[in-house]
Amino acid sequence: MSAGQSTGLTVIVLAAGGGTRMKSKTMKVLHPIAGRTMIGHVLTAARAMQPDRIVAVVGHQREQVSEHIRELGPDVVLAVQEEQLGTGHAVRVAMEAVGDTSGTVVVAYGDTPLLEGESLRVFAAEHEAAERAVSVLSGIVDNPFGYGRVLRNHEGDVEAIVEEKDATPEQREVCEINSGILAFDAEFLRSALPRIGNDNSKGEYYLTDTIAIAREDGLTVGAHTIEDVMQTEGVNDRAQLARLGAELNRRIVTRWMHDGVTVMDPATTWIDADVELSPDVTILPGTQLLGTTVVAEDAVIGPDTTLKDCEIGAGARVVRSHAELAVIGGEATVGPFSYLRPGTNLGAGGKIGAFVETKNATIGDGAKVPHLSYVGDADIGEGANIGAGTIFANFDGVDKHRTKVGRHAKTASNSTFVAPVEIGDGAGTGAGTVVRRDVPPGALAVSSGPQRNIERWALTKRAGTAQSRAAEEALAAEDGPVVGPDGERDVAES
Ligand code: UD1
Ligand code: CA
Repeated sequence: MSAGQSTGLTVIVLAAGGGTRMKSKTMKVLHPIAGRTMIGHVLTAARAMQPDRIVAVVGHQREQVSEHIRELGPDVVLAVQEEQLGTGHAVRVAMEAVGDTSGTVVVAYGDTPLLEGESLRVFAAEHEAAERAVSVLSGIVDNPFGYGRVLRNHEGDVEAIVEEKDATPEQREVCEINSGILAFDAEFLRSALPRIGNDNSKGEYYLTDTIAIAREDGLTVGAHTIEDVMQTEGVNDRAQLARLGAELNRRIVTRWMHDGVTVMDPATTWIDADVELSPDVTILPGTQLLGTTVVAEDAVIGPDTTLKDCEIGAGARVVRSHAELAVIGGEATVGPFSYLRPGTNLGAGGKIGAFVETKNATIGDGAKVPHLSYVGDADIGEGANIGAGTIFANFDGVDKHRTKVGRHAKTASNSTFVAPVEIGDGAGTGAGTVVRRDVPPGALAVSSGPQRNIERWALTKRAGTAQSRAAEEALAAEDGPVVGPDGERDVAES
């Protein structure tokens, strides 16, 4: 029977331990790596096995952890381990929570973010094919310190697992370690759990004692060695968090390159686990693609750009910008130095240019906001052009309101749109207009008064300065000798 067809596959994820070395108010398994919590990665791997049930054992800060697990999947069974008496005790609590199950039980830990579903699947399939009572996923490591060692007899058969603290000096020389991932025949596990004692140096109920118990029962046990031991590596402190985070990122970036994405500088490119990229996307240095960001083919992102939960259309260009929950249409351009806040929706071929901030704004196909503007709570029609330095004044101090700009409207520089207000299709504004009333289609709104020039102002008000000298020179060149403001001829010799 293969794992995929198993009628009774249970995955138990242990996450009751404290994780004190993280020195964090956040529970260890809730720390994020590549856009998911550590336990999120493990549950994703578990789910990939298509098990009949997943049980998570929670203990320390269990409100925090349970809430997060429920968000990830309401189907996950939560088992509470009041006191952390050891891995054997934790699994006992989990088995009590699921009741009478048969088939295979796989035990994993919640703090191994690199674990892949495929590795679990292969492990469980081998365990089932060999009809073993218990299988251990082992690894060969250079420095086995701290791990349980896999002990084999002269025939090479697995006899037991001994924990670091309980091992003899010779046993400590063994470099084959218990990754912590075990597979069981459910019936055997149920019979073995009550027989695990805690007479060891930690005074804990060790799940690993099940190996020796199975041997005593004359049952088959075995080990499956995983080549890629990092998949089973747990995070205990922040240094490991960073190291495994960088490794996971390296793996994700490498996978995308193999799938046809150009990454100019993998070392400064960060891509979260749930990001989706298409072939021929190009990512320039210093770029972070986070959350559930999706980028379509031929788009070029970066350098120095962060996109979180964004959707980027084919052929779009995003330069040195920060965007969150924004949708950018095909062939659209963004940046440099743009800030797209949630609810920004830029149409195909549109433009959000330099030093522009947007929020809750729909900018139609081919519409452009090229320079130095704030666009909040707006609907801008297709083909419209918003002049430099335009402010969508969406907040009246109490409430926020929307502004609508019609199709192919052309508004001039330094306009202010005081919402709620509507500028009709094909309408426009003069420079510096403060729009407080709706502008009908095709109309030009101007709000500043006629311009008045106070002649020769600089000559008296700025007398003796470079400004007034420049003015005098220009006037002299135009009119001959300058007449002073008092009407007298300038008597200076030329
Ligand atoms: C365990 C294994 C060891 C293995 C190592 C791999 C045992 C006895 N030892 O040792 O052979 O090499 O993992 O990393 O199994 N947990 C609970 N409840 C408990 C105790 C632990 O949920 O009562 C959880 C912890 O949160 C953790 C995991 O089980 O995720 C492992 O526990 P830990 O105490 O770290 O075991 P190790 O000493 O590392
Ligand atoms: Ca550990």
